[in-house]
Amino acid sequence: MKCSFIGRWSVSFSVFAIILCYSGAHGRCEGDSCPQESRNARASGLLGGTAVQQCSSVKDYPLDGTKLQPVNFEAPVIDLRWAGLNHDYDRYVFAITEPVEPMVGGHVWRSGSYGRIGSWTDVTKQMPDALLPRQGSDGDLTGILDLYFHEDHPEKILFAGPSYNYWITEDFGRTYAKVDTPGRTLGFWHEIKIHPSRPDWILAKVRRSVCEEWDASTNPWCAYDLFLSQDFGKGWTNLTANSNGLIAAFWDFDWGANLHRSERRAFPDETILATVYERADQMKGLTPGWDKDMHFVHSTDFFKSAHTKLAACGNQFELIGHKVFLALPSDCPTDPDGSPQPTEGQAQADSVVLYASADEAQTFEQVCLPVRWLDLGYNLVKTHDGASAFLVVDHDEEDMITKRAPMGNIYAPGYNNTLYSLSMTMNFRRRYITDFGRIEGIPGVYMANQLSSKMLTDPSAMRSLDFEKFIQTKITFNGGGSWQDLAKPQHYRHGVCNQCPSKGDSSACKLHLHGPSSWHDGPGGRPSFYSHENAPGIVMAVGNTGEYLEFAADTMCTWLSRDGGATWEDVAPNAGIYEYGDHGGLLILAPHETEGPTDSLKFSLDQGACWHSIHLQEAIDIQNIRVEPKATSHVFVVHGQACLKTPAHPTCTHTKEGSTPAGKIYVVDLKPIMGSDWRDCGGEDYERWSPPTPDSCLMGRNITMERRRRSSDCFNGKEYERAETSSNPCHCTKVDVECEYGFERHEEECRPIVGLDDARCSVLDKEDYVVSQSKYRLIDGDTCMDLSHIITDTDGKGNLPGGHHGRHPAHGKSASIFLVMLGIAVVLGAIGVWWFKFASDEVKARIEETIAPLMGGLSSAWRLLVEGTMRLKERVTDGYQGHDTYERDAFFQPLASGGGFGLDEEELHEPSPLNGH
Ligand SMILES: *[C@@H]1O[C@H](CO)[C@@H](O)[C@H](O)[C@H]1NC(C)=O
Ligand SMILES: *[C@@H]1O[C@H](CO)[C@@H](O)[C@H](O)[C@H]1NC(C)=O
Ligand SMILES: *[C@@H]1O[C@H](CO)[C@@H](O)[C@H](O)[C@H]1NC(C)=O
Repeated sequence: MKCSFIGRWSVSFSVFAIILCYSGAHGRCEGDSCPQESRNARASGLLGGTAVQQCSSVKDYPLDGTKLQPVNFEAPVIDLRWAGLNHDYDRYVFAITEPVEPMVGGHVWRSGSYGRIGSWTDVTKQMPDALLPRQGSDGDLTGILDLYFHEDHPEKILFAGPSYNYWITEDFGRTYAKVDTPGRTLGFWHEIKIHPSRPDWILAKVRRSVCEEWDASTNPWCAYDLFLSQDFGKGWTNLTANSNGLIAAFWDFDWGANLHRSERRAFPDETILATVYERADQMKGLTPGWDKDMHFVHSTDFFKSAHTKLAACGNQFELIGHKVFLALPSDCPTDPDGSPQPTEGQAQADSVVLYASADEAQTFEQVCLPVRWLDLGYNLVKTHDGASAFLVVDHDEEDMITKRAPMGNIYAPGYNNTLYSLSMTMNFRRRYITDFGRIEGIPGVYMANQLSSKMLTDPSAMRSLDFEKFIQTKITFNGGGSWQDLAKPQHYRHGVCNQCPSKGDSSACKLHLHGPSSWHDGPGGRPSFYSHENAPGIVMAVGNTGEYLEFAADTMCTWLSRDGGATWEDVAPNAGIYEYGDHGGLLILAPHETEGPTDSLKFSLDQGACWHSIHLQEAIDIQNIRVEPKATSHVFVVHGQACLKTPAHPTCTHTKEGSTPAGKIYVVDLKPIMGSDWRDCGGEDYERWSPPTPDSCLMGRNITMERRRRSSDCFNGKEYERAETSSNPCHCTKVDVECEYGFERHEEECRPIVGLDDARCSVLDKEDYVVSQSKYRLIDGDTCMDLSHIITDTDGKGNLPGGHHGRHPAHGKSASIFLVMLGIAVVLGAIGVWWFKFASDEVKARIEETIAPLMGGLSSAWRLLVEGTMRLKERVTDGYQGHDTYERDAFFQPLASGGGFGLDEEELHEPSPLNGH
């Protein structure tokens, strides 16, 4: 009762309410748990006692009673970019807006002053022909799709549109020059990579002009070329032409310099890694499937002299953690090292094998997974040290239900990324996005959503295939070695956030949080769990207590952990959107658009104990809150759109229902907002702490970091540098080991994975790796001391004592299939260009009429095509967290490098309605 009257954003921020809330919880607790609860409450300050973060007063800002004014854009912002990662440059902010029909690209707005009000200009108007193409040509191919800059030279920025021009600036966007796209090809399909150390060097993968015809998808001559610029986009060289006939077409590409390990340079800067067709008669157009006629090569002189073939049949590659992951079709007659490959008749035309190289692509080892199923696609998620990657594999399970369930297995790396051990089964995924992510800044900690095995025994689930009802959240503190439930809070600030049954068995009641798949789920998507390297320990998320993750709006709360996910508290009784600034000292929070409009924001200087309000002149639907990439600043950009004006929301400004609302941003600069309340931190405001708890080790080390005290409501300031993190080795325990290759965890023990067939794994065959009889191996990247009392027969890394290898029988299936999704996506893609370039209005109207019933909520074919492009872009530019563009994880499926629309699998299975015209 005492908690239940606490409304959204109302009295809940006072100590009074918290104490009432606590007493409510106290009243419910029974038996032995009470003293413990009360001790914990005292320790955490809820009951006074050692109270460090009691919220004695909640303030309203700005202090003078004014309200923040919005900045208006013609359409909502889809992305914000800060020029560079350097403090001096983060004043330059660029916003790309949503395209407005019939434009394919959006507008770009620029601020030279941290995004402050009055500092924004629509720079698309300064880019010649970006908005109005020359009369009669290129129809709707206007606007800007994306922008690119070099981290060390953010004054140079390249803006790519869908048509035949780029725009470049070399002075942070004060002036712009129009240049031709490479080979005057359509920008719509370009893929651009700037050299990591040479800011003027750019590679662009383009489609030949013949691909602009609408039969492109069936034309074998429609292919990709690679172009090089060494003067930041002013001039371009066609590398296919440069090769003098030695290369017929390109497919995948990257700069070799991306394999450099800081000081150690693997290659000359000129090195390009690519997969290519060497002969024109082997080209197969845009949908070659997995093709043994394509090869992985490298060149150190831009293909002027003969290139070096690194692996025959290499189709696609990713560079992660200084390793090369390479996919080869399994019908390739040779291994990457050139030795003949026994095909044994089991190779399938559409299957593929994954290889990894730890020595700059000189030698490759097959990547082995302990499963008998074939694979449909991979996501690669980097480990905290950036040295290896987890594999999340969408398998082609044999059982009907599991085959249809949206899930994959998570595999933890070992032995130079060649022997992966099973970390988690039934990891939830939605299309390309898996609910698996690092908790940044805290080594070895990851969160993932898993489908409960109850799904498989629940007859209603089988009938309805309603898998989303069975999602549960898990966390690991030892690099995937073992997973556990999230600890739900013992006390709640907001009674509504406690959905555990107050009577009876509440042991099945846990905390569940939305992951990246929810964030990427389009309108209605939920913010995912979020952490930042420069805010170590802080994790915010949207979710619920209960048996499973819920999707209904009224079940959600916003949660905060300040110890890397070990403990959680509720901070808002609704789904929030959040961001961190001031090196993690400052949290900002607002209701996400799925909760409806809001006219105030909250911020906290004491990690969620007190939430002060910032009042907004007009209410908006908030889509995201952003900060510069390093999260060191106290200036945030809140972006969203005008909300519909109704009696309940009088400060909304959108009046024409059905029309597109304007885009709105609020720039929240805490320094002027706080006024005299702003205080700079001093030495006494900091403490040392060991995440996640003082008595635990992470990845074999006891890490001690500096953090600002919770009770110190001061600002670190942008220039603050965290005192060095110290780390001492710990003695090995069971926490430092995971199940050995070929074994999986059942409760506390590792058992052999049943049903593995006889497919062999080459590192095991070659006796390079010894599978330990203990069924354990050391977790990748773990550096604990003295493993020998846990693993007695090997060093935990596959070596016998004394460094000798030995043979041990082990079985594993290593063949893998990639799902070839290019087909229909490419067809639609080709139609897309034709649509915007050539189709007359009558033809468009007729097609829209025909396909309208197929498209459900989408309002036009334009929307279908543009949203397809946007979804692709989001995937490519946004990284798995979706909140920041600082770093992205690789997504390793054919679509990623083939270019194309990021369509749903469902859509891919639909016959393409446009195809017949
Ligand atoms: C690049 O050069 C190749 C070989 O001369 C040529 O076939 C191709 O059309 C050129 N690409 C473009 C976009 O001009
Ligand atoms: C990993 O690869 C490097 C380079 O080839 C090699 O020196 C090292 O021994 C390998 N380590 C393991 C554990 O395989
Ligand atoms: C880790 O280090 C901190 C600070 O030196 C110390 O207080 C703590 O007891 C250590 N924990 C372990 C498990 O070694």
